[in-house]
Amino acid sequence: MISRSTIDRVFESARVEEVIGEFVQLKKAGSNFKGLSPFTDEKSPSFMVSPVKQIWKDFSTGKGGNAISFLMEHEHYSYPEAIKWLAKKYNIEIEETEQTDEQKAQMNERESMFLVSNFAKDYFHDLMLNTNQGKAIGLSYFKERGFTDETIKKFDLGYCLDEWDNFTNAALAKGYDLKYLASTGLTIVKENKQFDRFKGRVMFPIHSMSGRILGFGGRILKADKKAAKYLNSPESDIYHKSKILYGIYQAKKEIAKQDNCYLVEGYTDVISFNQSNIENVVASSGTALTSDQIRLVNRLTKNITVLFDGDAAGIRASIRGIDLILEQGMNVKVVQFPDGEDPDSFAKSHSNSELKAYLEDSAQDFINFKVSLLLKDSNNDPIKKAGVIRDIVTSISKIPDSIQREVYIQECSRIMEISERVLFSELAQLLKKEVSAKAKKSKLQSAPNQDPNQPPPEYFAEMEQAQLGVVKGGEVAFKKVDQLSILEREIIRILLLFGNEQVDFLEEIVNVDEDGKETITTREYQNSVSAEIYVHLHDDEIEFSNEIFQEIYTEIIHQINQSEKLNIDSLVNHPNPSIANTVTSILMDEEKHQLSNWEGQNIFVTKATEVLYKAVNDSVFNLRRILIGKKIEELMSEAKESQAPVLDLEMIKDYTALKMKLFNKLNRVV
Ligand code: CTP
Ligand code: MN
Repeated sequence: MISRSTIDRVFESARVEEVIGEFVQLKKAGSNFKGLSPFTDEKSPSFMVSPVKQIWKDFSTGKGGNAISFLMEHEHYSYPEAIKWLAKKYNIEIEETEQTDEQKAQMNERESMFLVSNFAKDYFHDLMLNTNQGKAIGLSYFKERGFTDETIKKFDLGYCLDEWDNFTNAALAKGYDLKYLASTGLTIVKENKQFDRFKGRVMFPIHSMSGRILGFGGRILKADKKAAKYLNSPESDIYHKSKILYGIYQAKKEIAKQDNCYLVEGYTDVISFNQSNIENVVASSGTALTSDQIRLVNRLTKNITVLFDGDAAGIRASIRGIDLILEQGMNVKVVQFPDGEDPDSFAKSHSNSELKAYLEDSAQDFINFKVSLLLKDSNNDPIKKAGVIRDIVTSISKIPDSIQREVYIQECSRIMEISERVLFSELAQLLKKEVSAKAKKSKLQSAPNQDPNQPPPEYFAEMEQAQLGVVKGGEVAFKKVDQLSILEREIIRILLLFGNEQVDFLEEIVNVDEDGKETITTREYQNSVSAEIYVHLHDDEIEFSNEIFQEIYTEIIHQINQSEKLNIDSLVNHPNPSIANTVTSILMDEEKHQLSNWEGQNIFVTKATEVLYKAVNDSVFNLRRILIGKKIEELMSEAKESQAPVLDLEMIKDYTALKMKLFNKLNRVV
């Protein structure tokens, strides 16, 4: 694990504008920098970096955060990977915390396997470009397939000489341990003999999401009926076939940018698409799709387009795997290629624009595709047709969104000429089964342990949820952005921006004379904004309804109690990504006007400091007013139900009077 002190040093040294400057062209804009969003194709800048606050915000996508979260968003690094990248940039030595010997051994084991795999990748690549046999056999094969030098470099393609142990000897001579050559499968060790697994094959290195070499696919060049066309690395501590998507490293940026991922079957399909300028493409490498693979894509986009070869048998076999995509709430489209064509051959025989047009024009919604495909099969045989219906409804039942399910049911009812009622009742049964199966399963499984040094779980999902104001826990519930949340956010905003500010406040003192007449006198006093808000909310025992706002508020109050000052940095860099991101968003909203250069155009931007006293009072009183309004509603509905209204009515009257008072007060402050 990376030590706390290393992480702290990284945070101290990293400058967000320097980090982002490596990926985005930034221009000075007032006290900030602005640039074109690296997450969308845009013409006018909506991306902003604040060197003062050390945060960034992309107004076109709503993303934002600190240097770390930028690397995680842009490079799709995990948390430790982002820390390591920064440590390297700023020449900070990475200190690992104490690990057990067993942990160390395992770490070193995997690390050594990565090292030798990386060496192999470079070796095969150099050899192909720089030796006679490499050029004559490996390189010429790829050239014949139409791959350019650029593509060959991009995918680190290579060649393993057709000799028994050329590679193994080279690796041993470089000091790599035979043990790791064997555990990665690069070398096959038999008694006293050892030889290269990939002898005489062209090499397709397989990268992880962050670009590490996990394994290889090697293609045979001779037509040999006995030998497999492709040979892949064996399963190992670093190569898990079911968790890998070929091409994800090269495709990730474009997948996020296009907000869609093309899924193909083979290595060469991926590469040919790249040659045709379509880069958001990955391959399942000829195996049935798994949930782990889909999750890799799900981190980047919600949309998958599955590309099917022309042959019908293949389609029927792969169709099952697609339910797994639906299960993750993703949208699935399918494209079928003409008979006998696969994505690779189609890309070769058509121009870039023809290919693009084909993909766009023939993309079909998956459910519709499946319905028409299976209906064709059933040939109007009633028994078969019943089976088809069940099959389709099963697919629909995997979709987590109920509205989407309903739309599909309606659509299917129309295409299959079957009543919606029947389809809905079938769906209801399936869902019921699913729920009870899940309940059973969750009883059996305990929650997985969270490694403290691992990236915060589902970093991005959480960041997004934080922005939507979504509450966590059990089911993900989409909360309406209501008045209360807006006010709570306003209070947090005031605290973040002006919490340390000293302001003159007015206190109203109500005197009641002997005749019961009220007179109001005022007293002026000074207080910090944060202390003032704290006193108000504390007196009324007010808690925020939004979980994240409450957490931020608790942190702020804790800081003030500890040091009498609010330290924004610690919130921006908070280990809880929901807090860090919400704080960043609020802070950056302040800067938004700089993007359109309002001040330069003489448009008046209110300086909140000028009206701080009013802002604090308004927001606190408004919050009270809404809470009291809610309380009244609650009491009313309770009174209705319990039918013992006398006492409650009194309370309602009291609360209503209080509400009126607050209204008056708000008006006076205005
Ligand atoms: N595959 C494999 N082992 C095999 C055959 C295939 O692992 N013996 C995987 C490879 O990842 C391959 C994919 O399945 O890329 C699709 O197989 P196929 O369509 O036969 O290969 P292509 O990628 O089309 O390769 P090529 O165009 O070179 O024939
Ligand atoms: Mn092919």
